[in-house]
Amino acid sequence: MNFELSEEHKMIREAARAFAQELKPGVILRDEGAVFPFDFMPSMADLGFMGIMVPIQYGGAGMDTLAYVLVLEEIAKIDASTAVILSAHNSLVLWGLNEYGSEEQKLKYLIPLAKGKKLGAFALSEPEAGSDASSQHTTAEDKGDYYLLNGTKNWITNGGNADIYLVIAQTHSKLGHRGINVLIVEKGMEGFTIGPKENKLGIRSSDTHSLMFDDVKVPKENRIGPDGFGFKFAMKTLDGGRIGIAAQALGIAAGSYDLALAYSKERKTFGKSISNHQAIQFKLADMEVDIEAARLLTYKAAWTKDQGLPYGKEAAMAKLHASEVAMKHSVEAVQIHGGYGYVKEYHVERLMRDAKITQIYEGTSEIQRLIIARDILK
Ligand code: CAA
Repeated sequence: MNFELSEEHKMIREAARAFAQELKPGVILRDEGAVFPFDFMPSMADLGFMGIMVPIQYGGAGMDTLAYVLVLEEIAKIDASTAVILSAHNSLVLWGLNEYGSEEQKLKYLIPLAKGKKLGAFALSEPEAGSDASSQHTTAEDKGDYYLLNGTKNWITNGGNADIYLVIAQTHSKLGHRGINVLIVEKGMEGFTIGPKENKLGIRSSDTHSLMFDDVKVPKENRIGPDGFGFKFAMKTLDGGRIGIAAQALGIAAGSYDLALAYSKERKTFGKSISNHQAIQFKLADMEVDIEAARLLTYKAAWTKDQGLPYGKEAAMAKLHASEVAMKHSVEAVQIHGGYGYVKEYHVERLMRDAKITQIYEGTSEIQRLIIARDILK
């Protein structure tokens, strides 16, 4: 067993770490104003982050899942909103297009997405289909050479700024989840409208919207995979997506810890740095242990996927643990900062707000436990 990263992995981590420093100066203002990080998209494209796991021939960086995790971890330490924009784009859109898309779909859609010329969004959730993802009310009626798409999607990350959407919809309702399809929908298709931006607690500079489809004609060639493959496609996509969210949560936890550790060495009470008080030392020790465990689970899930082994349980375990650690220790980081932790300039209050969503999206903590338990008991 080798816990040492390869030179290539160390290099990509360094590149992401350096890039994250560029994100830092404006992160508070972007959070306050819910401003999307448009200015940084060209740099992320140049660094290969917009298509990190996509093969080079389709415009990507041709790297593995571990490289992807390292990039997300470093970016989330500083700016969790930018991390989730990348995560939804890479895990939920590009991965499935590369894995199951036709050659024509890859040439038309995957290449511009992987080069960062376009942004992707994944539309599964609905007002009445969150945890119960197979309960799709959006319909894709088969009209011969096109599908007629009708319905509403909720909570769509990159919803306003994306160009290409993978939309899950029911075609054969009698077949239940086996009658669901996944369609590639372009912004601007007639009948496709985007709702107002959600005003969120955290990850405020990522954009989250509802999507409305009213008799949208989607060409048949925009269906990914065979008829009825949409639910399996979504489940497989989410398995990989959960590794991305685990990495985001890991970054939030590690970023909170870095700030708390540095502050504890500077801040003095009762004549010494607060890091010399045992009450603070116990908190720092718990953070170190929990974050390292989250890191090992997340890297192992990425490694398992990269080995071509089944990774649904590993992804759920990593996402469950990393998100709980992110929540717990971002709260502790605020506590260590005392009153300073409650104001924006010290960054930890933002990380605490950003942490919460990692326990909710791409399956709540309860859904992760369900997936793990089903795997154990199968
Ligand atoms: N891989 C492949 N196939 C899978 C699978 C997987 N991981 N999980 C289930 N399936 C297949 C099953 O084999 C089964 O197929 P057959 O009937 O052909 O055998 C079919 O799917 C149905 O399986 P289940 O009966 O297990 O499905 P279920 O209805 O009980 O649901 C669930 C399982 C895990 C709870 C699922 O609904 C789920 O993941 N829910 C959470 C949804 C979620 O994460 N939503 C997040 C939205 S996206 C988002 O949040 C993005 C963002 O903003 C960043």
